[in-house]
Parts: sequence; structure tokens; C-alpha cells
Amino acid sequence: VDLETVLNIDEIEQAATKQISKKAWAYYYSASDDLASKKFNNEVYRKILLRPRVFVDCTSCDTSTSFLGHRVKVPIYVSPAAMARLAHPDGEHGIAQACEKYGAMQIISQNASMTPEQIVADAQPDQVFGWQLYVQNERHKSEAMLERMKKLAAIKFICLTLDAPVPGKREDDERSKNIGANLPVKAAVQEDSSVSKTSTDSTTPAPPKNMGMGQSLFWGTAADLTWRTTLPWLAQHTDLPIVLKGIQTHEDAYLASLHAPQVKAIILSNHGGRAADTAPPAVHTLLEIRKYCPEVFDKIEVWVDGGIKRGTDVVKALALGARGVGVGRAALFGLGAGGKEGVERVLEILKAETETCMRLLGVERIDQLGLQHINTRALERD
Ligand code: FNR
Repeated sequence: VDLETVLNIDEIEQAATKQISKKAWAYYYSASDDLASKKFNNEVYRKILLRPRVFVDCTSCDTSTSFLGHRVKVPIYVSPAAMARLAHPDGEHGIAQACEKYGAMQIISQNASMTPEQIVADAQPDQVFGWQLYVQNERHKSEAMLERMKKLAAIKFICLTLDAPVPGKREDDERSKNIGANLPVKAAVQEDSSVSKTSTDSTTPAPPKNMGMGQSLFWGTAADLTWRTTLPWLAQHTDLPIVLKGIQTHEDAYLASLHAPQVKAIILSNHGGRAADTAPPAVHTLLEIRKYCPEVFDKIEVWVDGGIKRGTDVVKALALGARGVGVGRAALFGLGAGGKEGVERVLEILKAETETCMRLLGVERIDQLGLQHINTRALERD
């Protein structure tokens, strides 16, 4: 693919679809049930109108911001998404290099196809990573992984994913279960000896053979997490700030804010439509929080993901109070379209579109964005 000719994220997805295996496509593309949440995630941004101010000097534009006090050059980060090497051998390390070039943050999935050590191997001192945890039924396995993160200075926080205590029903993924995998479906971090050494007394049986990739990756993941038991357990095993991913209501956003400063941020997410289908897009949850508990924004950072395909989407989320936005599939499809350079192209496109949108709104810096720049009336009627 000539990446120069690829002009937007939809075209990246089309280019990747031609390059990657059917199995990888099904795993990446799939969402739960009727794909309703996945569609809402994207459509919701089209319902928000911009309110551009004119006669304002927009010669310069600065997209830099910070996450948990760490400076980044763009308010766009790569969401934790499993199995990047299904798309391209550059894998999660390629994503890390692309993020370095654009000054973007990356959250590494527990189910990454490379170990965290491999992924951060060439990280620059100012590069920002988080590591995402799915708590395992066998807690000692999670504890061993958390122990390992302590040795990686590049990892600045632990992102605990809460919206998928069980995997959603992803029919595209299930249909492709009999197509041979070009990679063993196992998280690299779990295969690695430093975890298995502590796991000799493993009580989790091997997953059945004929499962979709999503289902088998969730094998062994705990469904018994609670505010009361899991946060104290996590605090015992990490000193890093905690980010809770998969918040979908203002009630849970508020509860999370009560756990500040241990919880430093929440990610409003419906898992890219892969968990509960018809769960709300992050924009709806942002609006709920604004209405019922706006103090949440003062206590913890609020990040969002799901359906981000345009710079205008980024700007609208920020105007509603999000600190930053994550991209999941866009990064994986970028990798599929052209390895590390494909992910670079994704970040280049999104950064340039974000700048254009900010300048057309008459905004020079991220912290100037606010509700005055958008009209959400069409959503309030929903
Ligand atoms: C994900 N997501 C995800 N989330 C997580 O916390 N841990 C994980 O391992 C994964 N794995 C994963 C794999 C694939 C293929 C996808 C598409 C998604 C969810 C991800 O972090 C994010 O919430 C969504 O991808 C955001 O939506 P978009 O950008 O894909 O529309």
C-alpha cells in the first residue's frame, strides 16, 4: 500500500482489510451481537455540531497536553488491544515506535502478542506507557505480572479493564474459529517464563480448542471483581497510579472519583462495542457526568475511546471534558496496512485533522476547548 495515498482512517481500514488474514480481520473488526454500540460509537460524533469562532488569529496551533502529569504531544493515545502481530510482524513494538515519533501515549494490552519488555525496549525517556490488566482467577498470576511491571520504568500506570468480566458474543470472531491461526492465541506475557514459574500450581484447565479468538483470550479471566475487594488487592501489588477502563454510567464515574487519589483516571468505553451491545458510546456518558456529577472532572482525569476516526471526533470529545481519546482498531488497522509506518500514518492523519479543526474553531491550545465550541442539542433529545 502506498500510505501517502491513504487519506483517512476509513481508507486505512480498507487497505488493511486487503492485507491481513481473514482470522485477524474477524478478530479486529468484530463487535458484540448486532454491532449496535460499535455503530453508535462512530455515529454519535456526527450528531454533535461544531461552533466555529471566526476573526481569530489561528496562525499557531499546539496539540500538546498531559496525561497524569506526563507531557504528550497529542491528546490521542493508542488503546490497549490484543494480538497486534496478527496484523503485522512489527506488532506492539511497531506501535510503540510510531507513538514515539508522534509523542503519543500507548497502553499495552495484557493480551499483547509481544512481552511488555520487548514493547518498551527502545522507548525514549519521555515516552509514556500504561499497562492494562485483566485480573486472572488465579490471582498469583496477576500478582506476578504486576511485580514485573515494577521493573519497567516506561510503564507509568496500571489500566484495569472492567467492562468485560465475560467476553461479549462476537459472531464474526466465532465464525472464523475454524480458520487456522497464524499465531498461537496466547498472550506473550503469560507464556513468558517469569510468569509461568510462579504458576506451576496452575488450576485453570486449557481452553477448549474450538473457540473464537476473543473467547479463548478471556479464558481464566476473573468475573468476581468488586470496588470493595479488588481495589485494595491491586493497591497491595502496585504503587503505580490506577486507571479504570470501561466506565459506562455517571454512577460508576462518581464511585471511581470517590477512590481518588488511588484512582487517577477513568476511561469511558464500551470496549469498542465488544462488550454489552447497545451500551452507550462514551459521549453519552460524558454528557451524563456533566449533568449529574460534574465534580468528577475535577477529581480524576476522564479519557474516552470508541469510534474515533476523525480529528473533529477528537476535538468534540475534548470540548465535552475528556482529557484525551484512545484509538483501538485504527492503530491495529494501521499496522495491518503498513506495519510501523501504517501506525505513523494513522497518527499523522489524526494529528493533522485535529489541528485543522482547532484552527477552524479559532482555538490555539487544547485547554481553550470547551462547551462553547459544540452544540449537542441533537443528542439531548435522544
Ligand atoms: C480491544 N480492546 C481491548 N481493551 C482492553 O482493555 N484490553 C484488550 O486486550 C483489548 N483488546 C482489544 C482487541 C481488539 C481487536 C479491539 C478492537 C479492541 C478495546 C480497546 O481498548 C478500545 O476500548 C476500543 O478498541 C476502542 O474502540 P475503537 O477505537 O476500536 O473504535
